[in-house]
Amino acid sequence: MALRTIREYGDDVLAKRCKEVKEITPRIRELVDDMLETMYEANGVGLAAPQVGILKRIVVIDVSPEADQPIVMINPEIIEADGEQTGYEGCLSLPGKSGIVTRPNHVKARAMDLEGKEYEIEGEELLARAICHELDHLDGHMYVEKVEGDLVNNEDLVDDSDEE
Ligand code: NI
Repeated sequence: MALRTIREYGDDVLAKRCKEVKEITPRIRELVDDMLETMYEANGVGLAAPQVGILKRIVVIDVSPEADQPIVMINPEIIEADGEQTGYEGCLSLPGKSGIVTRPNHVKARAMDLEGKEYEIEGEELLARAICHELDHLDGHMYVEKVEGDLVNNEDLVDDSDEE
């Protein structure tokens, strides 16, 4: 496993559409391992492959308090979304900043795991927010496009915001 460099907002790679993964190869497994390590090291709750410069439809998420429940989503898609939540959101590609974004409060998504098996996952609140945020990265979108009002510095927030 190895840490990868997180690309920052303004890098072209973050504005591109990612390609589907056709086959789970050893390189894909290594990429996923590295993405998890990189996300945990940065204290993030999610990371998408383009954030480490790889234009493939892969995201990793872990919103658990102990950071011990990794979710790997390959070729993910949202199949249901409902409700609404409005709150601060951040991104590891825009360190130290947060902004208010409205997202669905509940989503159901379908993805492939590292065994190549399709599965479905449902999430509410932070998990729903993380899934929406990370999937946007796969289509070259960042949360700043959806921010209501101005970005703020995290040190000005009362609570630490999660970075995705
Ligand atoms: Ni992000």
